[in-house]
Amino acid sequence: MKSWVQSHLNVGLIVGVLFVVLTYLLVSQQAATTGGTRVVTTVAQWLVDKQLNEGERPSEKVVTKGAQQIVDKQLIQAPGETEVVTKVMCSTEERLSDYCELDGDVRIRGRAWSVDIVPSSWSSERRAWKIRPYSRRSATHVDMLNVTQLQGPGGAPACTVTYSKPAIIFALGGYSGNVFHDHADVLLPLFYLSRQYGREVQLLVINRVQPWWLGKYKLALRAMSRYDVVNLDGDTHVRCFRRVTVGLRLHKDFGIVPERVPGVRLAMPDFTRFLRETYALPRSAAANPAREPHRRPRLMLIQRQPHRRFLNEREIVRAAEEAGFEVAVTELHIDAAVDEQARLVNSFDAILGLHGAGMTNEVFLPPGGVLIQVVPLGKLGLMARVEYGEPATEMGLKYLCYNITVGESSLLETLGPDDPAITDPDSVHRRGWAALYDIYLTKQDVRLDIGRFALTLAEAMDHLRRQ
Ligand SMILES: *[C@@H]1O[C@H](CO)[C@@H](O)[C@H](O)[C@H]1NC(C)=O
Ligand SMILES: *[C@@H]1O[C@H](CO)[C@@H](O)[C@H](O)[C@H]1NC(C)=O
Repeated sequence: MKSWVQSHLNVGLIVGVLFVVLTYLLVSQQAATTGGTRVVTTVAQWLVDKQLNEGERPSEKVVTKGAQQIVDKQLIQAPGETEVVTKVMCSTEERLSDYCELDGDVRIRGRAWSVDIVPSSWSSERRAWKIRPYSRRSATHVDMLNVTQLQGPGGAPACTVTYSKPAIIFALGGYSGNVFHDHADVLLPLFYLSRQYGREVQLLVINRVQPWWLGKYKLALRAMSRYDVVNLDGDTHVRCFRRVTVGLRLHKDFGIVPERVPGVRLAMPDFTRFLRETYALPRSAAANPAREPHRRPRLMLIQRQPHRRFLNEREIVRAAEEAGFEVAVTELHIDAAVDEQARLVNSFDAILGLHGAGMTNEVFLPPGGVLIQVVPLGKLGLMARVEYGEPATEMGLKYLCYNITVGESSLLETLGPDDPAITDPDSVHRRGWAALYDIYLTKQDVRLDIGRFALTLAEAMDHLRRQ
């Protein structure tokens, strides 16, 4: 384990850095686009605003009221076919994602980044949209696809490959490559979009497609489509379909709104069940020490590298053992085989870790298990909750948040009690991402107050007993 850990350390570090940078950018950019006239400058503020917004407008209304969302139905004759309904719906008004649902004669040219909808008569008007096929509009480094409804059949590129199954176009790049974003931005929305087709769907991927990404998640992709993924980067074919979804639609930062799933009703437990089936994970229920007193529930303590570490790991392990857990300390890394890592996590009943992408492993815990997220100093609590806490609850896990106090942070010693980073975290948020990242997420380690943390451990054990 040790040498394996060493060799994976650098990748883990780079990805860890990338993750927080991207998350912050994402959060700041969303603040700028959703805040109306007001530009929100801190993560915490953004989250508060977001919750207020969502409270004010029932989420379903967001979907239907967009001014640019156009639904158009017309009956047309396609060449050599019976009647084909052309139906074009493009949405660019939701908080997180832009996407189109296209029915009709749809022709895709990968190299040109274009998707044409071709009517068979000349009666209709030409309409065009620019759609970023990554699920977060805020990923501005991902290019836009030109989606165009042509005026008539003339001038349309001739099909070189014609499919009878529907297609989904999605982008990699963006924030993908980080395990949280891989799941929240790509795999989850692909899952709830593709279920309606029962694997009879062609996945088309675009934007600096990394073969390693497709390799890493091949089992999950194969479970969503029985066909090989087609890479549209530089693709010179004109690929023709009768039904195409352009872009992935996020309902939340990491979650499902069941009413918005097309065709079938799905929720987060369906996603985690899907992952358990895909990776052949044996456990679909956490251990219950009340029913099986001979078996100690297993707790995985995730240590990050090289910062945001638990400094008193041994004491934490001892306290968890005293609370009744069997404990293992693990370091998880990006290029570990997903199915092996999933099986390892699935053998546990609880995860304990400091806020970060490693918390995404919650998806592999058996339902009824516990996620304990330790939130470091720096007003990061709301972000921690939205990214990992709320999703955990929706998956059927017990979520326990442990906010550290000043005394548990290494910053108290390194900066002194009067430093603004200690006395006024908002002032650090106002200085921007670089300062926030440097202080709270790079220079901070945590020494848990075992007396206080024992209460959280007891709560976790209590939950397992009662589930
Ligand atoms: C996409 O649309 C823009 C105009 O909005 C145009 O300049 C560009 O050439 C189009 N790209 C393709 C490949 O059609
Ligand atoms: C942790 O802090 C957040 C605010 O950042 C708060 O909403 C939450 O209730 C706190 N949790 C606990 C367990 O104290």
